[in-house]
Amino acid sequence: MSTYKIAVIPGDGTGPEVATEAVKVLTSAAARFDFKVTLTEFDFGGERYKRTGETLPDSAVEELRQFDSILLGAIGHPDVAPGILEKGILLKARFKLDQYINLRPVKLYPGVDCPLKDKGPEDIDYVVVRENTGDLYTGTGGFTMKGSPHEVAVQSAVYNRFLVDRCLKYAFEYAGKYGKKARGKGKDNTLALCGKTNVLTYIYDLWERAFHEMGDEEYPDIKREYYHVDATCMWMVKNPEWFDVIVTGNMFGDIITDLGAITQGGMGIAAGGNINPQGVSMFEPIGGSAPKYTGKGVINPLAAICSTQMMLETLGENEAAQKVEDSVKFVTGKKLKGMGAGKMGYSTSQVGDMVAELVAD
Ligand code: IPM
Ligand code: MN
Repeated sequence: MSTYKIAVIPGDGTGPEVATEAVKVLTSAAARFDFKVTLTEFDFGGERYKRTGETLPDSAVEELRQFDSILLGAIGHPDVAPGILEKGILLKARFKLDQYINLRPVKLYPGVDCPLKDKGPEDIDYVVVRENTGDLYTGTGGFTMKGSPHEVAVQSAVYNRFLVDRCLKYAFEYAGKYGKKARGKGKDNTLALCGKTNVLTYIYDLWERAFHEMGDEEYPDIKREYYHVDATCMWMVKNPEWFDVIVTGNMFGDIITDLGAITQGGMGIAAGGNINPQGVSMFEPIGGSAPKYTGKGVINPLAAICSTQMMLETLGENEAAQKVEDSVKFVTGKKLKGMGAGKMGYSTSQVGDMVAELVAD
């Protein structure tokens, strides 16, 4: 029987509440599908920072490396200035653990209200592969003449061929395995590059050349498309059914996945995985810590639960992952009144219980 060592970082705000429900579902899946999970909790987040001044110490990164997977609730505290916890914990984990893929499915589940006119689950069913370690996120840049009227601020979008190639490789492989043709939902597996080759003529030129070279040489059966990022946003709203797998840089990926999340019912349901295909990955609901709902038992735990589904898939527990997804679909389709905090018709733990029971069945 496989045993997985899981690190749990409940984090801030409603993070602990949703992490509890995610763990409930994970435990239920383990019992039903004959594997074991051992859970180790870490208290990184705003409270610990306020107490000790520590975000994610280097020693903790080394400790996290020893796990099979990491589950993250949410990071962000109203008393801590923006950027400190985000950079100190979330981005540090992504960079230090080299989680170079941020995988964000955009999937509308049955029964979930969609803000797009006349679009349903058949239309909104694609995945964004966001590069997760380069771009504007490297912190390359700085100020000169700070504080003077001529102050200059520069922040560079950084990519090299290595970062681009490893991300594209993941995206092509993903499209081959999970694209619409592979899932019996279309005639092609399609990978779309989202860039801005008309303005960012260096970095997206690099991306585009690498994309076509790799496609021609190694993945001739995968259909290739290209969209500028602004047009991508337009089509994500107007014709989301065009998309299958989208690959893009870190900054564009950040932005378009919030748009994607709202088309799939919002932050209550959107999950993501920070993936190091050769190392330890970290799964999280992509919404924030929602401080105003903290402790009220009203936050939707489904995003966190969906992130465990992604975790199970990455661990190779595909049957369990499928069962979690089917159970979530049943709950959205047949049980919940809405996805928003306080609008579900059930409490946070009741929703977790429902999914956990269905998974155990
Ligand atoms: C996300 C978040 C983070 C990001 C923030 C909190 C640093 O918006 O996971 O999308 O920009 O990557
Ligand atoms: Mn974001």
